[in-house]
Amino acid sequence: MAAICGLLLALNMSASIANPSSDSETVEQRVSALLARMTLAEKIGQMSQVNVGDSYIHDYLAEGLRAGRVGSVLNEVNVDVVNELQRIAVEESRLGIPLMVGRDVIHGFKTVMPIPLGQAATWNPDVVREGARVAALEAATAGVNWTFAPMIDISRDARWGRIAESLGEDPYLASVLGVAMVEGFQGDELSAVGTIAACAKHFAGYGAAESGRDYATTNVSENELRNVYLRPFKAAVDAGVTTLMTSFSDIDGVPASGNEFLLRQILRGEWGFDGFVVSDWDSVRQLQIHGLTENDRESAFEAATAGVDMEMHGDAFSKHLEELIEAGRVSLDVVDTAAANILRAKFRLGLFEDPYTDPEKLPDIANANALATARKAALQSVVMLKNDHDTLPLAAENLNSIAIIGPLADAPYEQLGTWIFDGDRELSVTPMHAIHSLVGHELDVRYVRAMENSRSRVTEAFDEAVQVAADSDVAILFLGEESILSGEAHSRADISLPGGQAELVRRIRQSGKPVVAVILAGRPLTLTNIVDEVDAILFAWHPGSMGGPAIADLLFGVESPSGKLPATFPRMVGQIPIYYNQKNTGKPPSPETIVHIDEIDAHAPQLSLGMTAFHLDAGYTPLFAFGHGLSYATFNYEQIATSAAEIRLGESVVISAELTNTGAFTADEVAQLYVRDLVGNVTRPVRELKGFRRVRLDPGESTTVNFELHTDDLAFYGRNMQLMTEPGEFHAWIGGSSETELRTEFRIIAGD
Ligand code: BGC
Repeated sequence: MAAICGLLLALNMSASIANPSSDSETVEQRVSALLARMTLAEKIGQMSQVNVGDSYIHDYLAEGLRAGRVGSVLNEVNVDVVNELQRIAVEESRLGIPLMVGRDVIHGFKTVMPIPLGQAATWNPDVVREGARVAALEAATAGVNWTFAPMIDISRDARWGRIAESLGEDPYLASVLGVAMVEGFQGDELSAVGTIAACAKHFAGYGAAESGRDYATTNVSENELRNVYLRPFKAAVDAGVTTLMTSFSDIDGVPASGNEFLLRQILRGEWGFDGFVVSDWDSVRQLQIHGLTENDRESAFEAATAGVDMEMHGDAFSKHLEELIEAGRVSLDVVDTAAANILRAKFRLGLFEDPYTDPEKLPDIANANALATARKAALQSVVMLKNDHDTLPLAAENLNSIAIIGPLADAPYEQLGTWIFDGDRELSVTPMHAIHSLVGHELDVRYVRAMENSRSRVTEAFDEAVQVAADSDVAILFLGEESILSGEAHSRADISLPGGQAELVRRIRQSGKPVVAVILAGRPLTLTNIVDEVDAILFAWHPGSMGGPAIADLLFGVESPSGKLPATFPRMVGQIPIYYNQKNTGKPPSPETIVHIDEIDAHAPQLSLGMTAFHLDAGYTPLFAFGHGLSYATFNYEQIATSAAEIRLGESVVISAELTNTGAFTADEVAQLYVRDLVGNVTRPVRELKGFRRVRLDPGESTTVNFELHTDDLAFYGRNMQLMTEPGEFHAWIGGSSETELRTEFRIIAGD
């Protein structure tokens, strides 16, 4: 600590440039003044981000810092090392410019929240914001001042391993929750202690990787890009996100890190973004591997002219930009603008006032609030997919014994999920331990792991598991995917339960006892082969440090499940991409028009039944729809109404419905509003989420859920790629999932 205090005292030089960083005019003046003093090499230095792991030990980094050749580092979380790097940058370089210190703090630092897809299942921006706040406070103790989150790629393909990191398939849900994450990381004042810069990624279209194979090409039309994939990014930019990261993928033939249309025309030109853009890891040099350029010099040319401000871990900028400028191929303006964008962020972060970290000024890691936040997020993220015969909640007082079976009941690391560089597995409370604590004194809790890991095909222990289930009153199976099966580069072509798990389920079924499946996974899974073999399913995603207590509370009815699906669950993988906000097509399917492959009459081919958009072997509906999630309460929606049958452009309408808890359990419900624009200049989705609200109701209690919709909320990009709301007829639904049938109508007429 003494060393840190010494460092803090040594700050007077940078303090002399200091001014309150919240005043934007002052920030601009400071950026210009500093830029005017910088050499070309120093400007290019700001545009270079170095991976500390690679370079610190060789002293290469220290040299680069002294020479002003490094604007940012990533992947160092030893606070003393980070402070030392800042000290070299601030005290030993000519201009004393502090560093952006980046790290992937995706869903928690030491205390791990549910994976982002699980957080999205809470449909609760407050919980998501608070989770990011906890993550920022913990990461800040290590000197991290910039996280590479939120990941707001729309993900309509559960094969893609990175769906785990995303906020799901819907542009509106991902926008609301993405903004909440940005607010949580960045706080009200970016320069305050314990706030860190956020990074909306990956710009853009990454989630559309063909066949869900990570890094694969994306083919997204401009209209789809604007109406679906870009929406959460626009929302993040409007919310003041400090940085954006490019995507690894190629979109319409131009890899995102060299894509001028995305980075200049849309991001800067149309949206007026004044933060900075970082490339993804080495993705500038990868322009050559994509086949867009011949060598690193040309990659630097393409990326810089397209609008990448900082190169993450790569040396194309540092090696070639100077030469490109001297040759007159890249204008100085490009470099000035990029350096200014980066300096602006550093001023706003208050780094010139205080580049150092004193962990003592920050709350303790994994304090009571952090753990409570992780527990609440996990609790609200769990989605009850089915619950036949009210199998759940379990009434401990009516049971003598329970069997806990499966590879994920007591797997502290696996419950944390992907991207937990710093996550502390020692903090994990597993379901097995939590169930013991909750009911272990009342009933006999027996445990058989049955499988070494989720992929195992060894069935030796299954007999024992069946025996234990048969000897118990109920079997609770903890199934799913280990952490390693989702995340970056961890895509799957078959997204059913891996290994021998389906076989385990079938065997346990034979015990004759009620079977509850708790599934921990990084993506929606195809559960068709087990769904009828179990009585109840709690889908818990990878729930993070406090997943165990949350699951135990839900199993035993301390609280009701209240999560709702942020992504569609297909029946089989061949239905992908399957998502609720699809287009109607010219031949929409219906229960009357579909036929199943097993029902085709060879003698009288049912041609007239076949002529709509469905699969002969899967129909057209998912196994579980977007927005679905059951409760221990029952919720009734009725009396949907609009405040006006007709509104003018520029006005608002209120859509409302009466929501009643008709069950016997106090519970949260997420009420959802969907809208359809019946006729459009381009075809419009059959339904679009336009609002949602989490409400808590006691048995018998009613409330009116109101959603105010401005005509701007109904705007979309038409054929000319302009955002517009068209007059015409709209349908609106309110209910507890995207399948709700409670509908009303309203009309928009042209303004005067
Ligand atoms: C990922 C990014 C991440 C970066 C730094 C890349 O491989 O695509 O999302 O922020 O690595 O770790």
